[in-house]
Amino acid sequence: MKLIGWGLFAALLATPAFAQNPRYQPDPEWRAPAEAQARENPLAARPELAAGGRKLFIRNCVECHGRDGAGMEKKHSADLQLSLVQQQSDGTLFWKITNGNAKCGMPSFSKLPELQRWQIVLYIRTLKP
Ligand code: HEC
Repeated sequence: MKLIGWGLFAALLATPAFAQNPRYQPDPEWRAPAEAQARENPLAARPELAAGGRKLFIRNCVECHGRDGAGMEKKHSADLQLSLVQQQSDGTLFWKITNGNAKCGMPSFSKLPELQRWQIVLYIRTLKP
């Protein structure tokens, strides 16, 4: 009994990326339609609004993605710093935040006002490994 406990403890310690998710693999079926991908961020010329996006991110997203956006292995949440996320268009990220991917645990944030969702996209662009 005790041995099993220590074994688990050791296994947890041996997991290097416990609080982030560098091995994140996106769901290949979760794809934004072409017109959504092509949408441009209406706030693109106002990068200073990323600060407000950060506040929204802390309020809505941190429980699963962590403060630095690196995701969490135990929640299978995306590491938003990864290039496989960063290389997606603003419109794609906006669409994913809006619609979520319920079957994989990413909620929809369509209730947040549109400009706030674009502000969050500005903030995601500031996340660096
Ligand atoms: C309840 C947990 C949870 C919350 C809260 C959450 N997410 Fe996620 N998010 C996930 C999971 C899980 C995935 C991976 C989904 C998948 O595997 O397809 C994900 C994926 C994503 C992706 C897509 C990454 C890719 O593969 O392209 C983006 C962008 C994202 N989240 C942004 C956000 C933002 C912004 C918020 C807050 C407004 C947020 N998430 C809140 C769990 C969460």
